[in-house]
Amino acid sequence: MSELTNQYWENLAHVQAELKEKIKNDPWRLAFHQMPETGWLNDPNGAVQYKGVYHLYHQYVPDNPDGGLVHWAHKTSADMVHFKEEDLFLSPDKAYNKDGVYSGSAFVKDDEIHFFYTGNVKHPGEHDYTFSGREQNTVHIVSKDGFTVDFEEVVIPHEDYPEGFTDHIRDPKVFEKNGTYYMVLGSRALNHRGKILLYVSSDLYDWTYKGVFIEGEKEMGYMWECPDFFETDEKDVLIFSPQGLKATLHEFENTHNSGYYLGSVDWDQNKFISDSDFKELDRGFDFYAPQTFEDESGRRILWGWMGLGDIGPEYSNPTVARGWQHAMTLPRQLTVENGQLKQRPLKEYQMLRTNKGEKAFTIQESVELDAKNQKTFEMIISIEEVKDKLSIHLKEDTVLSYDNHLFSLSHGPSGFGRSERTVELDDLTQIHVIADTSSIEIFLNDGDYVLSSRVYPKHERDTILFEGESTLSLVKWDLKS
Ligand code: FRU
Repeated sequence: MSELTNQYWENLAHVQAELKEKIKNDPWRLAFHQMPETGWLNDPNGAVQYKGVYHLYHQYVPDNPDGGLVHWAHKTSADMVHFKEEDLFLSPDKAYNKDGVYSGSAFVKDDEIHFFYTGNVKHPGEHDYTFSGREQNTVHIVSKDGFTVDFEEVVIPHEDYPEGFTDHIRDPKVFEKNGTYYMVLGSRALNHRGKILLYVSSDLYDWTYKGVFIEGEKEMGYMWECPDFFETDEKDVLIFSPQGLKATLHEFENTHNSGYYLGSVDWDQNKFISDSDFKELDRGFDFYAPQTFEDESGRRILWGWMGLGDIGPEYSNPTVARGWQHAMTLPRQLTVENGQLKQRPLKEYQMLRTNKGEKAFTIQESVELDAKNQKTFEMIISIEEVKDKLSIHLKEDTVLSYDNHLFSLSHGPSGFGRSERTVELDDLTQIHVIADTSSIEIFLNDGDYVLSSRVYPKHERDTILFEGESTLSLVKWDLKS
């Protein structure tokens, strides 16, 4: 047993109280996105709806906005819009998780939630923690309510993983197929390829290794984190977060990426067979380590971390000085339609809509529309025609533009180093903007592409400026906090 000491908890409470003071008056706190109460947030974990209640857990460092020793925070919601901060669900207080309760997932069976997570352990000594010194144990928890742990045990201790891998094997996601339970784990193989490991179980307690579900070629990066798998009527979907992809002209430009293959599984061979290119789930600046779950009405819902580790010197988040960093994206509903993955904002947020305004217009050179509240608003722009380059200036210095099949999102100083991201399109039919105090999410062509970005305006514009030659119609709402 490796208990966290009283001194740890006392110090944590003290630091958290200080951070809360800083956070109290921060206008960049988000109005309708999930954030860390204090400190640092990363991956969504254990997302589930259980007995009507939505539970979102997440990687959480309560006492440091720059990250550190991770716990699982816990938020609940009846409506997917209003969330309540609950007590910490898991803390790194056992020998097998003492250096972090890393990411994991939830699986409901009968009247219990089964959670699976990675217990991270670093041994003291001369280690690089990739080839030696690290344990990543797969841990199973059973809970009857999502708040208390009734049972916990290591189901795959680190030493039982197969040969051929570095110490990095983590992020269990569990699903069921034809009465058998499957677990996928992300990994970094010794040859610096990303691989997804597959385990099976008949009871969720005993797990057997079945082999590599899919592995990447060299250009697919050296480590695959946070695998996720689900079936749809059309295709199977495999999501993961590869590290080490090379940027192309407009793709994979962030330090790390998250994306998906569409395909099918050969369940005799236990292999995922992709029949698509690897596509990024989000083309903005801030998106990583997403997780999906199916809710009780059968919807496939995704949350992403609206942030990124190792963002490097290029861009930053000024909220660190205000005691917190990072947030979740809005939850999105995923579907596969005509062979294409669609992502649309989960419709519940529409209960926040107020002050609707509508307008159809043709721009010859420029049109400026009054828009006093640009802190929290939504705008759906339907594009009839773009004759010559369209650009839209909003928030403080954010610009959306479309020219010759290229859609771009760019920021000035409010982007704190976030420059420009571009998506190539056959045609632009719709731009759907959802803006919170310090974030913007843009859905293109009814969910074909999404760009998520954090922005930190000091003074928003009081108009939205449209330039170029085009014919559009738009609907705009303020979004209530
Ligand atoms: C992804 C990740 C996971 C890991 C967790 C630790 O952001 O690196 O692979 O479980 O974060 O916080």
